[in-house]
Amino acid sequence: MFEGRDYIRYISIAGAVGAAAFIGVWGAMKICGSGKVNHKIDKHEAKVVTKIDIEDLGDVTAFCRCWQSAKFPLCDGTHNKHNKDCGDNVGPLLMNRRTDTS
Ligand code: FES
Repeated sequence: MFEGRDYIRYISIAGAVGAAAFIGVWGAMKICGSGKVNHKIDKHEAKVVTKIDIEDLGDVTAFCRCWQSAKFPLCDGTHNKHNKDCGDNVGPLLMNRRTDTS
């Protein structure tokens, strides 16, 4: 049977688990549900505009579309964490240089 100290222990554990769950959900909502896609890139600018010359692209270049990349505007794979955390399915835009000239 449970005694007074057991109740206190289980209530403490349940409180800790509940607090951790709340913080996790709150964190996900803060990142995923704010209505904004850009949470960190050039926030001091009125509009984020990136210019890259086509001649400077490699054979395959991945551009970020989730706005989470530390290498923005290039994809660094951070979209995988975003998708897992937010239940989303975003991925990069791949620019592929044609190699055939026919
Ligand atoms: S890191 Fe943003 S699409 Fe890959």
